[in-house]
Amino acid sequence: MYQYRFLGLVIMTMYTSYSTTPESVQITARQPVFDFEDTPSVWLSDPIKTHFMNALSILIPYSEKTVNEVMRKNSHRIQDSKLRQDIQGLIKQEGAHARMHRHTNTLLADAGFKKVVFFERLQKQLMSTLRRVSTDAFEMAMPAAFEHFTAAISRDFLTHPYYWYGNKESAAIEFSKWHALEELEHQAVCYDVFNSLYKNKYRLSIHLSLIHISEPTRPY
Ligand SMILES: [Fe+2]
Ligand SMILES: [Fe+2]
Repeated sequence: MYQYRFLGLVIMTMYTSYSTTPESVQITARQPVFDFEDTPSVWLSDPIKTHFMNALSILIPYSEKTVNEVMRKNSHRIQDSKLRQDIQGLIKQEGAHARMHRHTNTLLADAGFKKVVFFERLQKQLMSTLRRVSTDAFEMAMPAAFEHFTAAISRDFLTHPYYWYGNKESAAIEFSKWHALEELEHQAVCYDVFNSLYKNKYRLSIHLSLIHISEPTRPY
């Protein structure tokens, strides 16, 4: 019985070419305002988690710009109206995230983390080179893998608050919650687009492996 269900799920996944975001979820771009003035230098429960999130922030503006560029490039190939609507919602959300993280990265650099600009430039060089040598399919797998990673870490951040921030409160924590919630809201979109256009998943596996190699696994 379970084997048939599993087979059904595999076939459904292989031939999905529509939005899997629930009908009840409308991907909405919110524009909250955060005042980071009183944010302590260790704003999560310990310095390692804080600097893990700070380092992640450095990568966000260019990654989310890339997500938006690749989605804009491919959206005209999508027939399903709900998925096209999801893409528009995702683009607006990622645009706001990229803007806000550019601002927080400037604050980090001003606070003395002088390497922020160096790593932003390095990431830009590496990702733009990878895109230049990629096929369209390999390029589309890039946001699908990246969004899988951001959804996983967002879910972890929201479901294990004590691990991440304990009893602390700050604008930086509220900012991270806002970003994490919107990542979960649009988590299926890039994968749905990739799945609609390309059925073979090996490209996705390569990108996920690259992300896995470059990001540490959280110890429990
Ligand atoms: Fe985002
Ligand atoms: Fe995202």
